Amino acid sequence: MLRVSVDRIEPGMVLARPVPLPTDPHRYLLQRDMEIGPDVRRRLKDLGIYEVWIRCRDLEFLEGVIDEELCEQQRLLYAQVRKNFEQVMRNAVVEIDIVHFQNSISSLFDFLKNSSFGRVMLEKLDAFDNYLMSHSTNVCYVALLVGMKLERYLIQERSLLKPRDAKDLRHLGLGCLLHDIGKMRIPQEILNKPGKLTPEEYEIMKQHPMIGYEMLRGQSPPAAAQVVLHHHQRWDGKGYPVRVDQHGKPLEPMSGRQVPIFCRIATMADIYDAATSQRVYSPAKPSVQVLHEMRTWCKGAFDPIVEQAFYEVIPPFPIGQTVRLSNNIEAVVVDFNPRFPVSPKVQCIRTPSGERFPDPSQEEIDLSQYPDIEIASVDGTDVRPFLDTQRSRPLHSLDPVLV
Ligand SMILES: [Fe+2]
Ligand SMILES: [Fe+2]
Repeated sequence: MLRVSVDRIEPGMVLARPVPLPTDPHRYLLQRDMEIGPDVRRRLKDLGIYEVWIRCRDLEFLEGVIDEELCEQQRLLYAQVRKNFEQVMRNAVVEIDIVHFQNSISSLFDFLKNSSFGRVMLEKLDAFDNYLMSHSTNVCYVALLVGMKLERYLIQERSLLKPRDAKDLRHLGLGCLLHDIGKMRIPQEILNKPGKLTPEEYEIMKQHPMIGYEMLRGQSPPAAAQVVLHHHQRWDGKGYPVRVDQHGKPLEPMSGRQVPIFCRIATMADIYDAATSQRVYSPAKPSVQVLHEMRTWCKGAFDPIVEQAFYEVIPPFPIGQTVRLSNNIEAVVVDFNPRFPVSPKVQCIRTPSGERFPDPSQEEIDLSQYPDIEIASVDGTDVRPFLDTQRSRPLHSLDPVLV
């Protein structure tokens, strides 16, 4: 099976996985093995679904890589976010079901700890109907994956806590789920503006961390509340909100290790998910492009140790993605090697002239072994300008501080 953008599905293709109903993740909008009909593309797009899994002869082995239980856990978390956020929208008084959230995050966290790497990385990019809600769920998920890679660093950075508590990621997950809750109090015309914000509108938008923090006052554990307040702080001190003293005078910007470690992780997960998602003002960018931009445009913005863990966990080319190689062969990504992030293993599916390979299982190439072949494009986007910054990570990059 193949991960296919909804724009590229055609009548006659067959779904390899069911498509859950965004409004009720316990029910399916489309069943597995259903043939795509003529109006399916429009229906999916109307519901905010941008990718589906399509059956593809010889790539059925990818089905074994997807973990249905993990998908179920993510859908449940999303359903909970949705229910809570809708209540927040309806009522002036905010009551978040913190206990319920914590239980769901705990079971997702326990599940991830016992899952293999390839399986968990496949599941990030599920698209659902409401950006704020799916974004919150995805940021929580990505942050947990990165946090799991940083156990020893967390013990070091949260040295006032017992090691067992320092590496407990539940409050990181909770903070990420709620990080943008303050946006629900930002006027819709600013939040959903298709164009660039004016400086005045941007100042209003920048209030959302403080608004969210106030909304949760007294309800959320402090470590989670800090994530809500400080998820836009930067390592180089160029983030916000600006701190003020008791007389309202601005203090030195928060920077480096003053920014709590959970917030440093949340910042990266937040930027990554926002840029890889479809927005009212910009289309979704491929992972490889976003990772390149994070390495270049955001130089100095991130804690270097968190950054290193992030790039070792998040693949530029997710498993199941269809790509075009520089020799014009169409292939599908089947593995991720953090040592050679942009040179994964691929399986060739079509020749340069568009014919199917008779037996794709015989056509597997480990691109790290073929320096003259590279991935040239993803969904029609030329990705070659983004490869150089991510070409290889030497072995010593696996710093002893990382688990
Ligand atoms: Fe935010
Ligand atoms: Fe966000």
